[in-house]
Amino acid sequence: LKSRLVADRDFPVAPLDRRVFGTFVEHMGRSVYGGIYEPGHPTADENGFRGDVMELTKELGPTIVRYPGGNFLSGYNWEDGVGPKDKRPVKKDLAWGEIETNQFGTNEFMNWCKIADVEPMFAVNLGTRGPDEARNLLEYCNHPGGTYWSDLRREHGYEEPHDIKFWCLGNEMDGPWQICQKTAYEYGRAAKETAKVMRWDCDGLELAACGSSFRDMPTYGAWEYEVLDLTFDQVDYISLHQYFRKEDTGDDWLSFSTTIDKLDNFITEVTSIADAVAAKRRSKKRIMLSLDEWNVWYKTHHGEHLRRPGWPTAPKLIEEVYNFEDALIVGGALITMMNHADRLKAGCLAQLVNVIGPIMTETGGPAWRQTIFHPFALSSRFGHGTVLRTQVETGTFEACGETAPYLVACVIYDAETGQSAIFALNRHETEEMEFEAVLKGLGNREIIEAHELHHADMEAINDKDTPDRVQPAAHSHVSVDGEALKATLKPLSWNVFVTR
Ligand code: AHR
Repeated sequence: LKSRLVADRDFPVAPLDRRVFGTFVEHMGRSVYGGIYEPGHPTADENGFRGDVMELTKELGPTIVRYPGGNFLSGYNWEDGVGPKDKRPVKKDLAWGEIETNQFGTNEFMNWCKIADVEPMFAVNLGTRGPDEARNLLEYCNHPGGTYWSDLRREHGYEEPHDIKFWCLGNEMDGPWQICQKTAYEYGRAAKETAKVMRWDCDGLELAACGSSFRDMPTYGAWEYEVLDLTFDQVDYISLHQYFRKEDTGDDWLSFSTTIDKLDNFITEVTSIADAVAAKRRSKKRIMLSLDEWNVWYKTHHGEHLRRPGWPTAPKLIEEVYNFEDALIVGGALITMMNHADRLKAGCLAQLVNVIGPIMTETGGPAWRQTIFHPFALSSRFGHGTVLRTQVETGTFEACGETAPYLVACVIYDAETGQSAIFALNRHETEEMEFEAVLKGLGNREIIEAHELHHADMEAINDKDTPDRVQPAAHSHVSVDGEALKATLKPLSWNVFVTR
């Protein structure tokens, strides 16, 4: 199988917004408690933050982290999670059927973000609550002082405002599983008014309206249009959520791998809908996209039967164990996301730890990298600069209504460092790919680093005892001649070639 890619410095897609390499921490299962926060853990710091998880987070390289939910958000009273810990109420979380101790809240998360060196992506509850709580939270977080809420923050020990820029207006409000689901009209109106008061409260915010919870939602398309029609002047982003599930495609690899193509369609479609809303107004404003929940999620259950009897605290919920196949899907999705750099400005791999996470822990025990950790970490490490348009010649296959290319690839060039990275997934199950990439206008290239993610067994997983079973290796079949890079890509491999 031969594949050829041509990219040219003069044909850029757009500078990549590095917030596409975001993740997500929700109050759910062991994401917070036993995940990022576990006082008493041998590696915990004085804040109770797990040191081993912090180290792995830094290695993973997320740029922005969404918090506090998720479905949890739609029943959350943020006031419960601030102030002296011994006074914080213990409450039922109706989203996941668990007990929320509120020992971790807004200020703890902001501390954690500082140490992890990530930007926060906050969210306001538009389920049980509305504009009033949103503006109070914003005043608590971002106002310097001299008002009730900002002084309360200072009393709580946080003299300086948190200065949180990126805010999601609710979560998955189209879903019947959501606490206080809304119609597009109800949600659009609530989001518009909330955005209005938030903007009057604080300058420089970036606001995201909820799009559909899945591309297969019955209201998909109509929801985006109506919500954006109501909120167009107030918001900057529309969100997309997509979990990749075999029940939507089929069990075999090629079928499952078309989730990558379906993500591509999803991004293109939502862009078109946003632009249709702009066209109706003859507006030049462009709504950007925030894929603020995405991942493989099919081995552990969705839905109400997730609830455990007896209102447990920090139960094991959707602790998906990822295999090598899932790592290929995540790697392919990241390539697709980068190729949409002109409109996709943020993305959050859901979630960070334990709950469908790239990092897994044992409460009281070790932490390790799941298979999907690796393509994310390499993409974040080398995904700097401007994405270039690619012209690709490769073989194709038919599956799930898609004519899909065997090669999924993207090229990114950083003018500041002169470094470029080519990310390439060979989806062929049995054939090696003779891969050539010609990078025009960048001068003669030299290989700096080359990595290959491959395993002979698609089912291979990393676990506590064998945490490095699936991990990248140095790529040995690559050479460069002037502007052309040549490499042999193993069947079922995800690769990155860094040149200068
Ligand atoms: O990430 C897990 C859940 O998936 C989130 O709470 C929700 O927004 C989505 O349905």
